[in-house]
Order: sequence, then structure tokens, then C-alpha cells
Amino acid sequence: MRNIKRHDASDIFIHWFNAGCWLVLLVTGLGLIKNEKLNPLGAWLPDGLRALFGGGSAGGAVLLVIHEVVGVLWVLGLLAYLAVNARGARFFLKEIFSVRPGDFLWLIRKMGRMTLGIGGELPPQGYYNMGQKAFAQASVAGGLAIVLSGAVLLLSDKLLPAAATGLIGWAVTLHYLAVGLVFAGLLVHIYMAAISPEEKPGFRSMFTGHVPADYARHHHGLWLETLDSSGSGEKGETGPR
Ligand code: HEM
Repeated sequence: MRNIKRHDASDIFIHWFNAGCWLVLLVTGLGLIKNEKLNPLGAWLPDGLRALFGGGSAGGAVLLVIHEVVGVLWVLGLLAYLAVNARGARFFLKEIFSVRPGDFLWLIRKMGRMTLGIGGELPPQGYYNMGQKAFAQASVAGGLAIVLSGAVLLLSDKLLPAAATGLIGWAVTLHYLAVGLVFAGLLVHIYMAAISPEEKPGFRSMFTGHVPADYARHHHGLWLETLDSSGSGEKGETGPR
């Protein structure tokens, strides 16, 4: 069966690098919320992680350094990806922010099918379906908000004057809200991408870079049409790279 290139090696690398950073940032970030009334997981995670890193306030300081260092590495990794594969990044942004007629109908029908088992034929989708686009839009907007608010928090100890307390308060609020938004989407993303049986070829493509043509025709028909009309039979000009 014909295989079609879907992801470049740099796309695959940045995806798993991003996922790894998210995991560490999420765990250490939740561990930093010492107030158990605010921490959705209560006290066990902050206490457990502090104990792991030397206990008490020294353990909290190590946790903060890990969170800050991985946060900075995450941003540097994303910038390095932009430098290596600017074309892939442009393709990604253009695709996720172009919503076509039929996309919302796809979303409504897909949700109807998955929850109630009802819904008509799904309108054909492009490189990303509308569910993937919605999550990717939230990740990009949420990611920007996390980076900007995180930068304010990183600088707050060192450079910002005491008068900037209001700004720091807003940065904390924005940081929490943006992480909450992306995390909510992430639960659906992980289910759809890694657990849902129909998406297994898409999951494998995040390691191999390729999907079977039949899967592409069924799930991303408009993408396959642009490939066929470009005559390349491969991703060519219409793919991320
Ligand atoms: C265990 C964790 C994860 C798994 C198993 C996973 C799996 C996948 C797979 C299989 C795809 C390819 C879909 C396709 O092109 O056919 C994908 C794409 C993507 N992933 Fe992940 N991912 C994970 C974590 C994350 C995280 C933490 C983020 C960002 C916060 C993220 C953001 C994206 C985005 C923006 C795309 C492209 C749009 C989309 O397909 O939804 N992923 N992921």
C-alpha cells in the first residue's frame, strides 16, 4: 500500500520535545503550588516533590530551578525549530488558522458520532481536521501566553520593582488560565491521537513520518487531493516541508 510523507524529522522531534517539556513543566508547576486550596491535586504532590529534592524550602527552591530551566529550554527548542524549519512552522500556522466551510459541521457531526452515535457523513478535511485545528490553535495561543507570563514571573525576583506587584499578579493568573486551557485540550488530544483506534496510523506517523494513502484519503481527503493535483504523489509543496 502507498505511504505518504506527513511529518518531517524536525516536526517529529519538536513534537516530542514539546510533549516532554510539557510533562516536566506540568509536574513541577503543580508541585510549586504549595497552597493546597489552590492546587487541584491537594498537598501530596508538592510535599512529595519537595521531599524528593531535599525537603522543605530547599526542595521547593530546586523544584523552581527545574521549572525555570526547563521553561527556558522549551522556548530555546521552539526557537531552534523555527530556525531549522521555518517553512514547516509557516505551513502549520497557515493550516491551523484556515477554517474552511464544512469544518464546523465536521466538528459537530464528529462529536455527535463519538458521544451519541449519531451524525451524518463527515465533510472532507484538509491536512488537519477541525478538532486538530482547534487544539493546535489553543496550543499556539496558550503557549504564547504561558511563555510571556512565565517571562514576567522569571524576571519578577530579579529585575522587576516591588511596584510591579499588579503585573506579577496578572502574570500568575494568565499563566494558570493558559495552562488550564491547553491541558483541557491535551486530554482530548491524547485520547484522539494515542488511544482512539481509528487514529492509530496518525499516531504511528508521529514516529515514522508516514501514513498509508488509504488513511489519508479517508481522514484528510482534501489534503490528498492537493497532493494528487500537484502530481507529486508525495507531500511536495503542499506539506510542511
Ligand atoms: C503523550 C502525549 C502526546 C501524544 C501521544 C501526542 C500525539 C500526537 C500525534 C499522533 C499527532 C499527529 C496527528 C497527525 O498529524 O495525524 C500530534 C500532533 C500534534 N500534537 Fe501531540 N501528542 C502528545 C502531546 C502533545 C502536547 C503536550 C502538545 C502541546 C501542548 C501537543 C501538540 C500537538 C499539536 C499542536 C499537533 C498538531 C495538530 C494535531 O494533530 O492536533 N501534543 N500529537
